[in-house]
Amino acid sequence: MSLKDQINFERLPKHIAIIMDGNGRWAQEQGQDRLFGHFHGVASVRDIVEGAAELGVKYLTLYAFSTENWDRPEPEVNGLMELLVETIRKEVPTLNKNNIRLHIIGAVDMLPDYARTALEEALELTSQNTGLNLIMALSYSSRWELVNAVKKIALDVKTGNLDPATIDQNILQNYLTTSELPDPELMIRTSGEYRISNFLLYQLAYAELYFTNTRWPDFRKENLYEAILDFQGRERRFGKTSSQVAK
Ligand code: IPE
Ligand code: IPE
Ligand code: MG
Repeated sequence: MSLKDQINFERLPKHIAIIMDGNGRWAQEQGQDRLFGHFHGVASVRDIVEGAAELGVKYLTLYAFSTENWDRPEPEVNGLMELLVETIRKEVPTLNKNNIRLHIIGAVDMLPDYARTALEEALELTSQNTGLNLIMALSYSSRWELVNAVKKIALDVKTGNLDPATIDQNILQNYLTTSELPDPELMIRTSGEYRISNFLLYQLAYAELYFTNTRWPDFRKENLYEAILDFQGRERRFGKTSSQVAK
């Protein structure tokens, strides 16, 4: 039986989040420039987006660029930015063909103008699609998001639009960039690093974490299936006891 056939479609994670890591090392291991790795990482993005859509996953969040990544050497930042924007632009027809809706989370005001314009266009062109929601975390970091949320809450309290006594988890959720999304159930990180690197710190509270040594440019549908199967073998307890959650 193929890996895909072993997946239980009734227990498919609704939201998968991926830290796409290891492009630079993948390239350097072959004596190539780091950008060569980012370039090859695009093929993995295509394959995984297609794979997730085929399975019927509703939300896929890809960490493409962190706010901390702005501190990398300028040629890498510029090359990566151009690659990301060009790829998104070129992929719009495929996204539409596959009914995939694009979303962006992150500090987009830090992006160069050409990038913001191209992204806004892609968001608009895919806005009617109702299949997979593809969320690109671009110039994103969780601490940036939380600080922003606190500022917006403070402003609403100050202007009298929000009563602090009513603030609960649902209201807090409204102030996050992910307000429209369910929390990720499965978080995958490639390339053998065991950390979160400022990604969805609040939203990952009860996500199952899956780490693989595979570098992102080598990550394909079969690797995604392996991660989902691993997820389906776990018992999610949400603080309860095993016998409470066992059916
Ligand atoms: C992930 O690969 C892509 C981004 C962070 C933009 P890296 O560029 O971090 O690759 P490594 O981790 O240095 O190998
Ligand atoms: C996390 O990878 C960010 C993305 C994959 C976009 P990094 O390579 O930047 O993370 P660290 O620096 O290894 O923690
Ligand atoms: Mg890295």
